[in-house]
Amino acid sequence: MLARAALRSVSTPLATRAFSSSPARHTKVAVLGAGGGIGQPLSLLLKLDPNVSSLSLYDIRGAPGVAADVSHIDSAGEVTGYAADQLDAALEGVKVVVIPAGVPRKPGMTRDDLFNTNASIVRDLAAAVARVSPQAHILVISNPVNSTVPIVARTLEKAGVFDPSRVFGVTTLDVVRAARFLASTASTSSSALDPKETVVTVVGGHSGPTIVPLLSQTSYGKAVKGEAYEAIVKRIQFGGDEVVKAKDGAGSATLSMAYAGAKFTNALLRGLKGEKGVITPTFVKSPLFEDKGIDFFASNVELGVNGVEKIHPLGPISAEEEKLLEACLPELKKNIEKGYAFVA
Ligand code: NAD
Ligand code: LMR
Repeated sequence: MLARAALRSVSTPLATRAFSSSPARHTKVAVLGAGGGIGQPLSLLLKLDPNVSSLSLYDIRGAPGVAADVSHIDSAGEVTGYAADQLDAALEGVKVVVIPAGVPRKPGMTRDDLFNTNASIVRDLAAAVARVSPQAHILVISNPVNSTVPIVARTLEKAGVFDPSRVFGVTTLDVVRAARFLASTASTSSSALDPKETVVTVVGGHSGPTIVPLLSQTSYGKAVKGEAYEAIVKRIQFGGDEVVKAKDGAGSATLSMAYAGAKFTNALLRGLKGEKGVITPTFVKSPLFEDKGIDFFASNVELGVNGVEKIHPLGPISAEEEKLLEACLPELKKNIEKGYAFVA
């Protein structure tokens, strides 16, 4: 049986609004891993976000070049690049830190296979944030997200600066994929649906069976049955593999991830500025399945001036989704414990 608290009511995620702004306080954002496949287009998209007043780009290689390039774009934000030995300077005064640093998958690998390399990268970057900008909000993209987020949390805890309302695993790509795939599935030959009409709440974590789309909570999703339902769930859960396979050894999703990362950052910045009703799924420290020893879980989260404002329960779910959740929870627990054990 699933925890009752998790099932209480439904909340609808914010429609697929990408880069909107209201004129108010502006903010310094850092990208750690800015020279990479995600980091470069993410930096470009953040430069276009009117909420970002200053962009601080750091990588162990190539960030000053990316910064020089992006800085010529005719939007208002300032851009500065930092070389490998300038991490502390890059983090000075930042409000939001986005972390896509680390290695991506090759065909045949799981996200967990990245743990040995990426765990220490993420831990060390989190320790630097704790030291230089302990009030910053940290958005973790580096895989395996189910483990790297607990690593960040425990690292901040060790430094005495962990605030659960400021640490996020970016699961937005799952939400983006779910909306896109459902729009394709539900479109007819005479009318193509806009993914804005097929937004799906995706809960759980960010890897295979831990990705749980709640299709039954949308009218279009509820109508997908049988083999079509099995197929779309599998595609949402394993969309990352589709890209890894197609790139054939050259990495994993970068462009769609940069879009998703910029979209989540924009949502957080709007919440931080005081915009009301900014709700989107993200992987955070959550009470929903605490009774099962699962400290982190992605569900709809209202973002506000302090970061996490309110964690929404899952709402009513179908029998199929109950089964998906039952498969998700033990795997997620294992991934979280692996992250904790690494820091301990
Ligand atoms: P990439 O190899 O193209 O880029 C990674 C960058 O990180 C490189 O530029 C590298 O120099 C940099 N880097 C390595 N160690 C660093 C350190 N200590 N400090 C700063 N920078 C450092 O990889 P990518 O395709 O951009 O993917 C990055 C990560 O994002 C991977 O772990 C990948 O699995 C993950 N990812 C997550 C999602 C998601 O949905 N959360 C989606 C796609 C990819
Ligand atoms: C994704 O979902 O595309 C990312 O997590 C990258 C990957 O390894 O699949």
